[in-house]
Amino acid sequence: MTPTQVVLVVDFGAQYAQLIARRVRELNVYSEIVPHTISAADVAARKPAAIVLSGGPKSVHVEGAPTLDPAIYDLDVPIFGICYGAQLIAQQLGGHVENNGQGEYGRSELTGHDSPLLGSAHSQTVWMSHFDAITKVPEGFVNTASTPNAPVAVLESEGRKIWGVQYHPEVGHTDEGMDVLRRFLHDLAGCKPSWTMGSVIDASVDAIRAQVGPGRAICGLSGGVDSAVAAGLVHAAIGSQLTCVYVDTGMMRKGESDQVVETFRKHQKIELIHVRAGDRFFERLAGVVDPEEKRKTIGELFIRVFEEASGGIEDAEFLVQGTLYPDVIESGTGSAAKIKSHHNVGGLPDDLKFKLVEPLRSLFKDEVREVGSQLGLPDEIVWRHPFPGPGLGVRIIGEVTPHKVGMLQEADAIVRHEIADAGLDREIWQAFAVLADIKSVGVMGDERTYENPIIVRAVTSDDAMTADWARLPYDVLERMSNRIINEVDGINRVAYDITSKPPGTIEWE
Ligand code: XMP
Repeated sequence: MTPTQVVLVVDFGAQYAQLIARRVRELNVYSEIVPHTISAADVAARKPAAIVLSGGPKSVHVEGAPTLDPAIYDLDVPIFGICYGAQLIAQQLGGHVENNGQGEYGRSELTGHDSPLLGSAHSQTVWMSHFDAITKVPEGFVNTASTPNAPVAVLESEGRKIWGVQYHPEVGHTDEGMDVLRRFLHDLAGCKPSWTMGSVIDASVDAIRAQVGPGRAICGLSGGVDSAVAAGLVHAAIGSQLTCVYVDTGMMRKGESDQVVETFRKHQKIELIHVRAGDRFFERLAGVVDPEEKRKTIGELFIRVFEEASGGIEDAEFLVQGTLYPDVIESGTGSAAKIKSHHNVGGLPDDLKFKLVEPLRSLFKDEVREVGSQLGLPDEIVWRHPFPGPGLGVRIIGEVTPHKVGMLQEADAIVRHEIADAGLDREIWQAFAVLADIKSVGVMGDERTYENPIIVRAVTSDDAMTADWARLPYDVLERMSNRIINEVDGINRVAYDITSKPPGTIEWE
């Protein structure tokens, strides 16, 4: 499902490229990230409407610094370079990039002339992060703006259809960053702003129909947003040819299973097999306390239960998976794939006998949410916080028992309810409770207590690779604490986890 018009974002350093690709899409132009090693022939074969060169962490002068196949500049495709990308344009086409010992980091004032890229001249605040500076533009280019430490902050060549900015238009701190990107994409490169979530749904539906034909597909629902939206899209395409399988491990959040069944079976009218496998999971987990062994036990049984359930759908040939674009980008590098390997728990291995249908492969998480809303999925599913495959099992330190799951479900529901009630639901990445297997002394009424604590964890994050503990208001923490101790039997103390990731992880196991 690749739209006809694509902008290629050339990646010179991962953290910048994804944000640029998202910004291009926010301007309704489809974008894809490609490695900087891409050849001019490969670029030409993709017939891109434009190319954006991302920033990067290196100096163009460092040995082994990433470069671009210079023949790409001659393909007659409009090019926009950002930070490192702009320096590379200057260096490769005959200008000068120097280290004048005065880098610029953070806020800076840009002063420029009227120009096709900048619009009408005025000074504006831009966000900088560079050590080297462009000091001379290549032949055929004009220098249209500068900052105190960047004599050439913007370079433009209408003749060559190449533009570059030393600053970062993609970050929110740059005042008119989106205006500059818009001018490049819509006005200078002539891209049509036709890529909307409505067009994504239409194109996906066509692509799924073409792939599956009259065949049967199954989809493992986890309750999370990705599998839910993938199922919704496939259902929109092939209706009753899709069957969903929901494996209830007994370690789901409070009310989650009912909600999944209600949403998919009743409202979306999707055929759903609900496998209640809690007893089997608890039996296997008896005596298991080591986190890795716990994950392995849950993961293996999950696959077995799914296979048993899907085996009943004899002619199923296709398996729907909610793979997202960041997963596709990450799996391109060995190290990222390794970090993620333990996250496959609760997912399905690739070597099942099915052909894969992955309708979200080109989408970012926020785009998946929008598609979900447009498909009519409720906010509770579309905006649900991520939940690990092994469920509450990795939030119970020590052995997992039905009794402990019950306690944790109650405490967790209170944490999430208070977060939502305070209107913090969408700015917090994940908020949940952890049940520790230690006991402490307390006093309730006139009685001494000796019970377990609940640890509250709430983090902010963009992608779960790094995270910070959320600065929750004290009154929200106070309400959580009071309610958990009063309403959950067996808990006499509440602690708040103030560890970022790294060094901690988001989950406790
Ligand atoms: P950590 O704890 O590694 O978690 O900081 C990062 C993100 O991944 C989620 N997570 C999982 N998701 N299966 C999943 O589908 C898993 O086994 C798993 N383990 C952790 C976690 O909730 C967080 O969002």
